[in-house]
Amino acid sequence: MTFNPENYKTEQIESGSLKITFRAYRNIPYVRNPVSPELQMLNIFIPQTYIDGGTINGYNNKTAPIFFPNGIGGYMETKPCSPCVRDDGSFNTEAMALAHGYVVISAGARGRTTADGEKYIGKAPACIVDLKAAVRFIRSISDKICGDVNKIISNGTSAGGAMSALLASSGDSPLYLPYLEQLGAETTSDRIFAASCYCPITNLENSDSAYEWQYGHLSEQHWHKWEQDGDSWKVTPVHTILNDEQMKLSAKLKEQFPKYLNSVAPNGLTLDESGNGSFKDYIEKLIINSAESAYSEGEVIPEESGIDLSAGTIDFEKYCGFITRMKAPCAFDNPDMYTPENQLFGDEITDKKHFTRFGTDADRNDNPTAPSDVVRLMNVMNFITNEGCARHWRIRHGAADRDTSFAISAMLAQCLAAEGKNVDYCLPWGIPHSGDYDLEELFNWIDSISR
Ligand code: DHB
Repeated sequence: MTFNPENYKTEQIESGSLKITFRAYRNIPYVRNPVSPELQMLNIFIPQTYIDGGTINGYNNKTAPIFFPNGIGGYMETKPCSPCVRDDGSFNTEAMALAHGYVVISAGARGRTTADGEKYIGKAPACIVDLKAAVRFIRSISDKICGDVNKIISNGTSAGGAMSALLASSGDSPLYLPYLEQLGAETTSDRIFAASCYCPITNLENSDSAYEWQYGHLSEQHWHKWEQDGDSWKVTPVHTILNDEQMKLSAKLKEQFPKYLNSVAPNGLTLDESGNGSFKDYIEKLIINSAESAYSEGEVIPEESGIDLSAGTIDFEKYCGFITRMKAPCAFDNPDMYTPENQLFGDEITDKKHFTRFGTDADRNDNPTAPSDVVRLMNVMNFITNEGCARHWRIRHGAADRDTSFAISAMLAQCLAAEGKNVDYCLPWGIPHSGDYDLEELFNWIDSISR
């Protein structure tokens, strides 16, 4: 791995009256023994102002935070992200971050379908190992680049949000060492300063029961069918009625959730056997707060949402029916193994595996189950008390997001808070499964923790 700081291009992107000039170092290998040389590379972007000795928003070439976005979605592989102007003329996240004065570094990572010939090379925990190796590499070249390597802030959405959370929590955990050593990763620290996580699809082992805790009363599934149509995708909304067998699975999963939740007891919050209690009250309050804040900005809160702002109440079951159920049980570890998560937990030769006892037991075809030590390495909840866990957390989970239960992000936020972390968490009103929709607020938060 050689990084030659002479080897850069000055680039410029422009839209309307705004022009962003930066140095770009592209496609730098971050491990010595890459198994996927096209993916195990990173890009570094440095605002030209810092090269010229100037400051942006009070930051200089030494103090600028390093914004570390990942492009992971659906647990698929990703190339490193780059600043650009979108078709509609807007700047993307990386461009906005540069304009705001951050050094931007983004790494490629392997994913659940990455293969070398017949061999799968991107199954769990490959994606998190790659991000960690990239952080180590960044530390190893700290004297050659601008920015403060002790202010690395990761950012990601969905599976990428989950990886952002895992990266931030598992800093310097020895459990990843065998994987990092095999790749020839640097031996520097892989701790980071802060995580921005949009709708993290994490805690996969408990996501099926969390999903049914939230949606188990709904037998109608509202989803979208994606079909390739030449160069584009045709998206059709589909309503499916769950069958008796699925509803039975749902009821069993739903019953499991309080037991798990109480074993974690995030910040003392609990549920009774029927799934009610302080943890549910907390989530209801998050949604009411979200609606209140939208209402104060002129938004109409429909009666069908089950929210009565004048009374300050919510009918949670009605609210979930209002946003609708998207996934059928088991939503993550499915007996039919069609989910992205089943594919994530395969191995070099087996494409798909189960990763929960429940999913394994519900499968009539005796499909294999991933080793628990691998499953463990993918779940942020296992690293909240890790010594190298980051101090600062910003978690956003749209109040209209149906890809995973609100319980998943709520548990994460409350467990972090219980450990004394600085957690900024809310469920923004009307926001579906997405990220980077509030960059101004995100950057304000980054500034507040970095200065
Ligand atoms: C993503 C979405 C999902 O619903 C899921 O199960 C896994 C990943 C995503 O958008 O990254």
